[in-house]
Amino acid sequence: MSSFDVTTARQHFPALKQDQVFLDNAGGSQTLGDVIDSITQYLSKTNVQLGASYHTSATSTTKYGEGYKSAAKYINAGEDEIVIGASTTQLFMNLASALKFQDGDEIILSKLDHEANVDPWFVLADRLKLKIKWWVSDKPELKLTPENLKPLLSNKVKFVACTHVSNILGGIHDVKAIAEAVHSVGALLCVDGVSYAPHRQIDVKALGVDFYAFSWYKVYGPHVAILYASSAAQEHVKPLGHFFNPTKTLEDKIGFAGSCYEAVQAIPQITAYVSSVGFDAITAHEGRLQAILLEFLNSRDDITVLGTASADSKDRVPTVSFVVKGLSSRKVVEEAEKVSNYGFRWGTFYSNRLCDEVLGLDKEGVVRVSMVHYNTEDEIKGVVEVLKKVLP
Ligand SMILES: Cc1ncc(COP(=O)(O)O)c(C=O)c1O
Repeated sequence: MSSFDVTTARQHFPALKQDQVFLDNAGGSQTLGDVIDSITQYLSKTNVQLGASYHTSATSTTKYGEGYKSAAKYINAGEDEIVIGASTTQLFMNLASALKFQDGDEIILSKLDHEANVDPWFVLADRLKLKIKWWVSDKPELKLTPENLKPLLSNKVKFVACTHVSNILGGIHDVKAIAEAVHSVGALLCVDGVSYAPHRQIDVKALGVDFYAFSWYKVYGPHVAILYASSAAQEHVKPLGHFFNPTKTLEDKIGFAGSCYEAVQAIPQITAYVSSVGFDAITAHEGRLQAILLEFLNSRDDITVLGTASADSKDRVPTVSFVVKGLSSRKVVEEAEKVSNYGFRWGTFYSNRLCDEVLGLDKEGVVRVSMVHYNTEDEIKGVVEVLKKVLP
């Protein structure tokens, strides 16, 4: 695709032929047809144990290796610096079991994060008796910055975890600048890139992060995730594999058993598709989508957009959450479903600390409309019409 055409893009996703508008993409995106075909082919022809010398095993070993190569290249990591696993939560848990700390060390966690990038470090802090410091930022923007991090930093802080983009707020944090602040006291930075990955190119070296993870099932692929740990940061990772196995790569250290073969070997289909569309085109198209929705939401006195109200692609990705005065988030969605085939949802989306403690919302949380590049401008104009029907 030389210039972006949403109709052409949609043809790559078999699920989009159904009578359903998919607007819960921050929960999970639809899967590329090429990924589905590749998994079918793999399971039909080459589903054997890796590493043997017979022909079919050699083929599957090569395909799995190509999956790892392609995933590493996609984020500008070395092959030894990644592991693919069941989910981002699982990979952070594995990392938390393996990270080495000393008595008296402190860690900083953000109150804006999905629990996937909080709970593993909570468990770790409890086990190793580390002190936790909480990082919050000012409302309404709720932007994590080096400035609001710096008062928490000291030489005792050894680890900081934060999100690149909250799965509720959609605002982009300047991870490169945050990494520089974290490194200025010699600590390590772990970033949850799950809500960023479907929308922008990731270059872990340019960002300067120590650990970074995201989930391929939100980037048009199967239900697996990737974790990056720089070679230098791996000095702090204790290998957890069987004693007789190698300990060189991140996969050796915290991959335990092999990653899901059929899913890993399908990753080149994702990276090829995304490269063919290009993130410049994706950003421009998604910018148009978010502008349509935000213009409507910002025009209403009874609606509060959470986080940044900006529609500028420099500030945000098209994950937009809001609350309506006098109408519960659940009711908004239930009423919308009565009059449309629009699939967006209400809730706290595992960002409970953000919704309860920071935003002070009730248990029905927010209404979240989360778009990706295969959504059309007509679909988003349609959301606006649906909301006009159901709002007071
Ligand atoms: C921002 C964010 N981080 C982490 C996760 C957890 O990802 P996984 O389901 O791969 O553990 C999610 C899932 O919704 C998410 O939105």
